[in-house]
Amino acid sequence: MSASRQITSLTNPTVKAARALHMRKERDDSGLFLAEGLKIVTEAVELGRTPRILMYGPEAASHPVLRRIAAATTAGGGEVIEVSREVLEKVSRRDNPQTVVAVFEQVFTPLAELRPETNGCWVALQAVRDPGNLGTIVRTADSAGCGGVILVGDCCDPFSVEGVRATMGSIFAVPIFRATVEEFLAWRASWPGSVVGTLLSATIDYRAADYRRPTMILMGNEQQGLPPELAAACDVTVKIPMRGRADSLNLSVATGIMIYAVTG
Ligand SMILES: C[S@@+](CC[C@H](N)C(=O)[O-])C[C@H]1O[C@@H](n2cnc3c(N)ncnc32)[C@H](O)[C@@H]1O
Repeated sequence: MSASRQITSLTNPTVKAARALHMRKERDDSGLFLAEGLKIVTEAVELGRTPRILMYGPEAASHPVLRRIAAATTAGGGEVIEVSREVLEKVSRRDNPQTVVAVFEQVFTPLAELRPETNGCWVALQAVRDPGNLGTIVRTADSAGCGGVILVGDCCDPFSVEGVRATMGSIFAVPIFRATVEEFLAWRASWPGSVVGTLLSATIDYRAADYRRPTMILMGNEQQGLPPELAAACDVTVKIPMRGRADSLNLSVATGIMIYAVTG
């Protein structure tokens, strides 16, 4: 396996720039993000995504799959770098890093390109704040074969390192859209199926609702829940019964229940 170059210095500018992608400002400014792990990076390459930078450590050097993703990276104009374990620890900020870390370009699909008729189930999240929740929802949307995830309002970054880890690679498979509340409300007016909001105060059980296809599930923020203007824009609002002492479900758990209620 021949890399374009080797890096062992922790102060190398490429190492510093990759490590800086843990910060949202750096991700926003550069439009890049980090993905870790040979399996995930391989899946990304198989989905046609080329790493800008592919870093691999000594343990991955002899892996047969690495040769393939390294060739794809070089062919796509990216850089392949052999690094020390210490560099991987530094870039991933982990004592036990993955053997491969790659830098990719972020992809947000414009809302105008969403084709509702191409899928029966879509997920919209209003002001989701926890990257772990967001990543888990993207993974669940992928698992159930949903069309995509729409981020409405001031959401956390789907390309944060924690969020990408939680997607387990689904960040490369699920289209991510984003819109302000106003853009979403204007766009939603032409939605051809049901928009189903989830509210603790709703009176309809989620199993009793009529989910006209394509169905868009609208989930609220972790602290405040769905604001009135979004709840009012839904065709129906539903609740998942709360039978014990807990007053609500975790957002990603509630989203998973809704997704499978819609997709079967
Ligand atoms: C942690 S909950 C928000 C709790 C918030 N205190 C509230 O009053 O809505 C986050 C989101 O998960 C969904 N959710 C959680 N539990 C739910 C339930 N039992 N029924 C319907 N939706 C639920 C809703 O979309 C909610 O906005």
